[in-house]
Amino acid sequence: MTDGAPASGRFITLEGGEGAGKSTQIARLAAWLRARGREVVATREPGGSPGAEMIRKLLVEGPVERWDGTTEALLHFAARRDHLRSTVWPALQRGAWVISDRFADSTRAYQGYGLGLDHATLGRLQEIAIGGFQPDLTVILDLPVDIGLSRAAARRGSETRYESLPRPFHVRVQEGFREIARSEPTRCAVVDGSRDIDTVAAEIADFVIERLGA
Ligand code: TMP
Repeated sequence: MTDGAPASGRFITLEGGEGAGKSTQIARLAAWLRARGREVVATREPGGSPGAEMIRKLLVEGPVERWDGTTEALLHFAARRDHLRSTVWPALQRGAWVISDRFADSTRAYQGYGLGLDHATLGRLQEIAIGGFQPDLTVILDLPVDIGLSRAAARRGSETRYESLPRPFHVRVQEGFREIARSEPTRCAVVDGSRDIDTVAAEIADFVIERLGA
């Protein structure tokens, strides 16, 4: 890693397509960890720091065609670097457990599998932006694309840029997340997000105990 090194904290990321239920599950996981005496920082990408929240607006609002894929990936990595330096790394260094709603796997899935940027290019950008820093655990919430898109449509305000991409894009994103999980089974756990909230929360907590010994 090029910059901040975590001391005793843990970094957990939740990933998935549109409307996968990440925010609900992050709230549940944060409450569960706090009840076990952990300091928890719940954050999100793109965003999670003042600078990255400014970049978020450029990414999630406005017309789909406003950026080409490479520019878009650069903006996500710029936001990510600021998020790490301002929020995530300081929290990990003081021993907090950080839960992020999306991280670098979203760039692989959306800009890589979704928009067609190649793996090697994304790897180079990632190395420049964040070095070898990785989550300790990544939970991928998997559910049928159509259910996710209709859930997202029901609640989205002005943040419609990705959601308005065509269905085949979202199918590629879903397949991308599954492929990432297959290629990194030690870091990633896939959870069926189509079940009720309590069942999904319990399964995520089980993974956290099993993999991180919470
Ligand atoms: P959210 O709706 O989960 O807050 O995420 C905002 C959107 O940004 C979502 O449609 C996925 C997209 N996104 C990417 O395309 N690449 C990324 O690297 C990240 C973090 C998010």
